Amino acid sequence: MAFAVTPLPYDKDALSPAISAETLSYHHGKHHQAYIDKTNKAIEGTELADQPLEKVIASARKTDQGLFNNAAQSWNHGFYWNSLASESGHPTDELKSMIDSAFGSLDDLKAKLKERGAGHFASGWVWLAEKGGKLTIEETHDGDTLADLDANPLLVIDLWEHAYYLDHQNKRPEYLDEVVENKLNWGFAADNLQRGTTWVYPA
Ligand code: FE2
Repeated sequence: MAFAVTPLPYDKDALSPAISAETLSYHHGKHHQAYIDKTNKAIEGTELADQPLEKVIASARKTDQGLFNNAAQSWNHGFYWNSLASESGHPTDELKSMIDSAFGSLDDLKAKLKERGAGHFASGWVWLAEKGGKLTIEETHDGDTLADLDANPLLVIDLWEHAYYLDHQNKRPEYLDEVVENKLNWGFAADNLQRGTTWVYPA
């Protein structure tokens, strides 16, 4: 099957000022689209053409770095759009209690996400994930993903410069502060936790 860019679950200006409509136009319309186009081109006519994106990623991880990068970036961006919301909402009681036991409090988790995201060298992703019944913060470099690994991702934040440069220039901490405080979709995180299995990229 050919994959498509996942639609944004909000209006393009819904994340402003953390992320502007202009940034979303490029990031969603050009960057994500390019990763999807390259993935589709690479799998066309191969045995991976009928597989879900998670299978493409798992198969390419050790055998085809180019396909892996594009397929993983396709997945990560679909997951990222859903990790954001115009209004953050609140973690469910179950999620809140796991946050408290892993990090102390929601504010402590937010501080840790900002610290890990700001400290991450060069491009990549910072994740909140559930692993073996506990919450953890994970980082992946460049296009790497948790989609096919032994962890259930709950939320992700894009740390590539294309995610924030138009709005915040080189000030990644400012972008992280606005996203983590105001735009993380705690309802999506709770849904992922409750399902207990990794989110599936829409076919
Ligand atoms: Fe990105």
